Amino acid sequence: MSKTVIDLVAGARPNFMKLAPVERAFQTSGSLATRIVHTGQHYDTQLSDVFFTELGIPRPDICLEVGSGTHGAQTARILERYEAHLLENRTAAVVVFGDVNSTVACALAAVKLGIPVIHVEAGLRSFDRTMPEEINRLLTDALSDLLLVSEPSGVANLLREGIPESRIHLVGNVMIDTLKAELDRSRDSDVLSRNGLESGEYALVTLHRPSNVDDPAILGPLLHAIAHISHRLPVLFPVHPRTRASIQKSGLDQFFSCSPTLHVVDPLPYRDNLAAMASASMVITDSGGIQEETSILRVPCLTMRANTERPVTVEMGTSRLLGSDPLAMKEAAETVLDGKWKTGTDIPLWDGQAAERVAACVLKWISDRNPGNPR
Ligand code: UD1
Repeated sequence: MSKTVIDLVAGARPNFMKLAPVERAFQTSGSLATRIVHTGQHYDTQLSDVFFTELGIPRPDICLEVGSGTHGAQTARILERYEAHLLENRTAAVVVFGDVNSTVACALAAVKLGIPVIHVEAGLRSFDRTMPEEINRLLTDALSDLLLVSEPSGVANLLREGIPESRIHLVGNVMIDTLKAELDRSRDSDVLSRNGLESGEYALVTLHRPSNVDDPAILGPLLHAIAHISHRLPVLFPVHPRTRASIQKSGLDQFFSCSPTLHVVDPLPYRDNLAAMASASMVITDSGGIQEETSILRVPCLTMRANTERPVTVEMGTSRLLGSDPLAMKEAAETVLDGKWKTGTDIPLWDGQAAERVAACVLKWISDRNPGNPR
């Protein structure tokens, strides 16, 4: 009998490190065949291809090549192209990851065709509906049949929203599986020497959220604060294309050359970024994933957001929320340099084994649905 086939969907950078261990866990179990779908939401080599190569993800079976666009246009293109694909190529279930536009678009395409949806990283809520990702999370979870959750807040959120407990499973954080698998290999990275940096003596900065980078009145003061910090401590700043475009559009380009100890570089491949995080004295970021990774690496995380959908990183990890406040950023950097930042504790189920739990849950769920035809 031929194996049951399921689709694994990825579209943007943060999806790839979540898909990698899950794909591997299914391969190891040998019970299911997987088909990798790349929507093409991210298409630059630095935001996409390098992750497939570095993380050993097989080439996608299907590329939808949707590219960039407004939220409506991009989501609609993914929906239309993925639906067309599903109509020709049925699948037993669709696994979607995280909260990007590709996640919600593919979930919607599948569910309208009666194909069950499995959401990895379900239940996270920032309670801030101005974030595009929050809308994607709410909708994806409402459409999903099986909700696999990374931290306890996610379970509480889903129960409060009326999702039956039987469909919710706390499995841990699959992105941390990738971090743990790659940490040793990342020590071979030359990212520090390439940028003239010493371990433990620099800050790593990443900013890409629309709420921080789209409005020059918010972005300008944040860049000033980063430049200010670079006079205290060298700064490595891999710039997301969205942020670079916004800096250029708002005439803030002088930032790129304002300080000899500010190293502005292109987005980093996975292992370089991991090495740069692991050896930093602090990370200044608005990324959700980096809040999680720095918590596991026990590196102080200055989170330039007013809220987080990942409260465990604040409660147990190393993240503190600073809003989009440049003064708070500068003061927090001083707190780290004074050695007064919290060190964090272990986070339950962020142990490098989450993908195995995802695979086990999915296999059991499929066999429970088809008792006469297990797998
Ligand atoms: C997306 C996700 C965000 C995630 C982030 C990680 C949504 C709503 N947002 O945001 O949750 O944290 O990815 O990077 O899904 N661009 C390129 N090359 C690319 C892709 C994009 O230059 O390969 C530029 C384009 O100008 C594009 C802009 O970046 O318009 C934004 O890309 P988009 O995919 O819309 O959102 P991100 O800001 O990357």
